[in-house]
Amino acid sequence: MLRHAWYAVAAGEEVAAAPKAVRLHGEDLVVYRDQTGAVRAVAGHCPHRGCSLALARVDGDDLVCAYHGWRFAADGRLLAVPANRQGAPLPRTRVAAYPAQEAAGLVWVCAAGPETSPSAGADSDADAHRGRHAGPRPLPPPDLPLFPELTEEG
Ligand code: FES
Repeated sequence: MLRHAWYAVAAGEEVAAAPKAVRLHGEDLVVYRDQTGAVRAVAGHCPHRGCSLALARVDGDDLVCAYHGWRFAADGRLLAVPANRQGAPLPRTRVAAYPAQEAAGLVWVCAAGPETSPSAGADSDADAHRGRHAGPRPLPPPDLPLFPELTEEG
């Protein structure tokens, strides 16, 4: 496996607002669309009790676990724990987020994984929120050749 390579994990038309379970080199992931329609990819299991995040619901850009309702940002940060008392600190955990893009009708995920996600290595939460990161950037998704003879128009 090339760690900084992109891999097609699903057809774009298969990925909707509901998380879809996929596998990438033996790891369970889920892919989904945020409220802008952009594709997102995170680890397939909740860090709380391991519930499949394929059962989660998407709320805006956030993913809400179906079991106890922990809410995760698209970059994997834990945002809320419904059972916590008001003002109680959140557990120091997150769900691993992976760079994801849609190109040539496919959803691509970069196997470089969490260390290249926008918030990894960020200097502050503010940097993380703005999408800055100190880690290596993954290579862009491949430019795929188009084969017009394989389309109905071609
Ligand atoms: S298993 Fe996900 S919130 Fe508990």
